[in-house]
Amino acid sequence: MGFYESWLIIPVFFSLLLLSMAGDTKSSDPVYLQELFHSYANETLSKHHTGHFYNLSLPSNSSGMQVSVIRIRSREFWATGVNFSSLRIPPRVIALPFVKRIALLNENLGNWSSHYYQVPNHSLVAPVVGFSAFDASNPSTLSNEELTLIVSGDPVSILFPDIGLKDKNVTLKCVKFGAGMSVEFSNMTTPNECVAKGPGHFSVVIPFQPQPPRPLPPSPKTKDERSWKSWVIGFVAGFGGLALLILVGVATYKLVRRKMIRKMESESEKAEPLDTTWIGRSRMPSASMIRTQPALEHEYVP
Ligand SMILES: *[C@@H]1O[C@H](CO)[C@@H](O)[C@H](O)[C@H]1NC(C)=O
Ligand SMILES: *[C@@H]1O[C@H](CO)[C@@H](O)[C@H](O)[C@H]1NC(C)=O
Ligand SMILES: *[C@@H]1O[C@H](CO)[C@@H](O)[C@H](O)[C@H]1NC(C)=O
Ligand SMILES: *[C@@H]1O[C@H](CO)[C@@H](O)[C@H](O)[C@H]1NC(C)=O
Ligand SMILES: *[C@@H]1O[C@H](CO)[C@@H](O)[C@H](O)[C@H]1NC(C)=O
Ligand SMILES: *[C@@H]1O[C@H](CO)[C@@H](O)[C@H](O)[C@H]1NC(C)=O
Ligand SMILES: *[C@@H]1O[C@H](CO)[C@@H](O)[C@H](O)[C@H]1NC(C)=O
Ligand SMILES: *[C@@H]1O[C@H](CO)[C@@H](O)[C@H](O)[C@H]1NC(C)=O
Repeated sequence: MGFYESWLIIPVFFSLLLLSMAGDTKSSDPVYLQELFHSYANETLSKHHTGHFYNLSLPSNSSGMQVSVIRIRSREFWATGVNFSSLRIPPRVIALPFVKRIALLNENLGNWSSHYYQVPNHSLVAPVVGFSAFDASNPSTLSNEELTLIVSGDPVSILFPDIGLKDKNVTLKCVKFGAGMSVEFSNMTTPNECVAKGPGHFSVVIPFQPQPPRPLPPSPKTKDERSWKSWVIGFVAGFGGLALLILVGVATYKLVRRKMIRKMESESEKAEPLDTTWIGRSRMPSASMIRTQPALEHEYVP
C-alpha cells in the first residue's frame, strides 16, 4: 500500500465512524424488533406449557409495547383458531409447512408504532398490530423459520377498538405493511375492523389533512433518503475530520519547533549573550559584527 492509499483510509474511517453514529438504523428497524420479540418468545416458551397465553416481559426500554405468545398444536389451531386480545384467527387457517406445534406471536406496538412504521402522506390513527407463526415442534427451542398462514375460511380479523378522531368526516383506511416497508391499503370492513389474509403488520391511517397555506407536507423519510443523507454527512464529516487532523498535526509541529527554537535560544543566550531584537514573534540574536567565521569543515577541498 502506497502513501496516498494510506491517506485515503483516514476519511473513509471517519465516514464509517460517523455513519455508525448518525445512522442509528437499528433502533428503529422493525426487522430488528421482530428478532428481539422472537428471542423473548423463545425464552418464555421454553419455560412454559403448550396451550396457554403468555405476555412477554420485554426490557424496560420497550415499555409501551405488548407481545403475547401461545404454543398450540397445529391440528387444534386448524380446528378452533386462536383469539388474542384484538386478533381473531378463525378456524381453518393452515400453517405451512406442516409442523406438529406452532407458536403464534401477537404484538401491539402501542405508542412506538410510528417510530417503526410510517405511511407516506398518511398518519397512523391506531397502534400497529402484528402477528406471525413459527415452528414450535421442539419445546425447548423456537425455530427461526416463519410459517406461512393460508386462510381457507373466514379471514383473520383485527380490531382497533379505540381510534380517537376529532374530525369524524374523514375516511379511515386499513394498511398492511409488507416486506421492505411496502404498504397496501384496503377499506375497513366494519368501523374498527380490518381483515387480513395472512400474517404481517396492520394499522389504520387517514390521509394528511389538506391545510391551505402550507408548504410541501413533510413526507416521511424513506430508507434510501436516510442512508443517502448519512453517506453525504459521513463523507463531509470525514473530510472535515481529515482537515482537522492535518491542522492539529501542523499546529503540533509548529509548537514543537517553536519550543525547540526557544530552548536553543535560551541555551545560546547562556553561552554567549547577544543583543536581541524581536522580529515578528521570534526573538532573534542580532550582532553588529560577525565574531566567528564559520568553520568550513565539510567543504570540498580539491
Ligand atoms: C397480558 O397483558 C394484558 C394487558 O396488560 C392483559 O389484559 C392480559 O390479561 C395479559 N395476559 C396474560 C396471559 O397474562
Ligand atoms: C433495549 O435495550 C437493549 C439492551 O440495552 C437492546 O438490545 C434493545 O435493542 C433495546 N430495545 C429497543 C426496542 O430499542
Ligand atoms: C411509550 O410509553 C412508555 C410508558 O408507558 C414510555 O416509557 C415510552 O418512552 C414511550 N415510548 C415512546 C416512543 O414515546
Ligand atoms: C374467538 O372469538 C369469536 C368471536 O368473538 C368466537 O366466536 C370464537 O369462538 C373465539 N374462538 C376461540 C378459539 O376462542
Ligand atoms: C405525497 O404528497 C405529495 C404532495 O401532495 C406528493 O408530491 C407525493 O408524491 C406524495 N407521495 C406519495 C408517496 O404519494
Ligand atoms: C431458545 O432458547 C434456548 C434456551 O432457552 C436456547 O438454547 C436456544 O438456542 C434458543 N433458540 C433460539 C433460536 O434462539
Ligand atoms: C365531509 O367532507 C365532504 C367532502 O370531503 C364535504 O362535502 C362534507 O360537507 C363534509 N361534511 C361535514 C359534516 O363536514
Ligand atoms: C373502498 O371504498 C371506496 C368508497 O368508500 C370504494 O370506492 C372502493 O372501491 C373500495 N375499495 C375496495 C378495495 O373495496
